[in-house]
Amino acid sequence: MRSDRAADGAAEADKRQETGNAAAASPDRASNQPEMGGAVIGRRNLSPLIDKLCADHSLSLAEYEFLIANRTPEAARLLSERAAAVRKSIYGNTVYIRGLIEISNICRNDCLYCGIRKSNSNCSRYRLTPEEILSCANEGYALGFRTFVLQGGEDGYFNDTVLCGIVRRIKERHPDCAVTLSMGERSRESYKLLRDAGADRYLLRHETADKAHYEKLHPVQMSYDNRMRCLRDLRETGYQVGCGFMVGSPYQTPAELAKDLKFIENFRPDMCGIGPFIPHRDTPFGGFPAGTVELTCYLLSIIRLIRPPVLLPSTTALGTIHPTGREMGILSGANVIMPNLSPVSVRKKYELYNNKICTGEESAQCRADLERRMRAIGYEVVTARGDIRRDTRQRP
Ligand code: 5AD
Repeated sequence: MRSDRAADGAAEADKRQETGNAAAASPDRASNQPEMGGAVIGRRNLSPLIDKLCADHSLSLAEYEFLIANRTPEAARLLSERAAAVRKSIYGNTVYIRGLIEISNICRNDCLYCGIRKSNSNCSRYRLTPEEILSCANEGYALGFRTFVLQGGEDGYFNDTVLCGIVRRIKERHPDCAVTLSMGERSRESYKLLRDAGADRYLLRHETADKAHYEKLHPVQMSYDNRMRCLRDLRETGYQVGCGFMVGSPYQTPAELAKDLKFIENFRPDMCGIGPFIPHRDTPFGGFPAGTVELTCYLLSIIRLIRPPVLLPSTTALGTIHPTGREMGILSGANVIMPNLSPVSVRKKYELYNNKICTGEESAQCRADLERRMRAIGYEVVTARGDIRRDTRQRP
């Protein structure tokens, strides 16, 4: 996945990634080994820790880090079996679908990883009109979608008046549908207005729960504290809230990932979006290696076990780095897929990372293709709003 312009930084990052990998646990890690009932856990036997995670839905920071840094194929298998069973007890074999409408790639931000960052002058910018957005939703409705996700860069055109108007029109036309927004950082007041206009859910990835790491991924104008403020405001305004992060982002180690897991445990999000980091050639991180399917799936299983009812998508990024990545995500414990409903004419332009899949297909094709893929692994795509099951004793 590495771009041709792979710089020296990438080789260095490779080393960093290797040291983050399972087999490469260094001897000095031994001192970090958490104790379980007085006995030090063997490097290769993670099952007591996995049992603890299943029972308590919680581990200490050191234990999360250990589980990641010392992972083995057997641990991955065990975690995914447990995660799939938990998922099945709450959601059966159903997969919820969300129609993703990428409404604008114009963005005021300059995140170092993102292909639609402000300073990427190679990005050909577009913005859908409210009519175009409505017509994507109508097309999606006919295809069986009951959730529409409006996602876009932080584009000043979509002020509260404009965005509230769009949300209202979708809800008026399709009152049985949920509207999810993924429009970045806004004021509490703005979140409140959008909620009052009918928005049900909001996705805002926290990107990393480590402040110093956050600062390495973002320009100085952006702040970890404001991101966290937004997530709190969204929760308090009554949304179903989603957080999330990239797997294998530059400078990420098992220690940062452990913090992400602890954050998820404490924040208790309704939704959690994780996918591999994939370099974009026109960004400062263009030379860094992509995250892996293996680690992403491992983390999906852990997140399912931390928070059993969470709505957990198997992301497009996962499908981009591996031909059957999205299937692997579902088998690891994910229960949501978000196919693209954007007009084909703009799909290639919403390029957060290179080689993104599904940029040439019509919405109906994507939908049919996914249904086939899910059926092939024993799962069923359903037409439902797909809200979080708050009562986990409830069976489908
Ligand atoms: N690789 C993978 N995911 C990315 N995102 C942005 N850029 C990339 C990239 N290069 C993710 C971020 C953001 C979401 C909309 O897409 O986590 O929150």
